[in-house]
Amino acid sequence: MDTNRQALGQLIVCKGCCCGRTDRGRPDVPVEHLKSIWQEAKLNRSIHLTVSGCLGPCDVPNVALILSPDSSDWFGRISGDEAYTALVDWARDCHAAGEFLPPPAALVGHRLDRFRPTRPGPAEAGPRPTAG
Ligand code: FES
Repeated sequence: MDTNRQALGQLIVCKGCCCGRTDRGRPDVPVEHLKSIWQEAKLNRSIHLTVSGCLGPCDVPNVALILSPDSSDWFGRISGDEAYTALVDWARDCHAAGEFLPPPAALVGHRLDRFRPTRPGPAEAGPRPTAG
């Protein structure tokens, strides 16, 4: 199925039970600032911005996720103007280029391994031991 709202990618910023909860000592998530930039620059046409509820890894707030057709890049402990500016600049660059560009290099130190390694499947695990 197709949608007429295809984008190059999607940025999901978490503002849930922990992320952005300044009242609980967590760093701010500048949601309104991001929304106004996205709206003004029409960035949703290229990188769709979503503000989500809890994405799961609450122990490393603030969490952000960048999705593309080929990748999902998770980031944790996002805070401060510099980090959010890097996300904005990256989205603007994608929009201008008309293509999905690698996530901002400035956030490399924030990369998060979201999932445990998968166990090998039966074929990769080798032959089953036989009884007796
Ligand atoms: S509230 Fe952001 S990961 Fe749980």
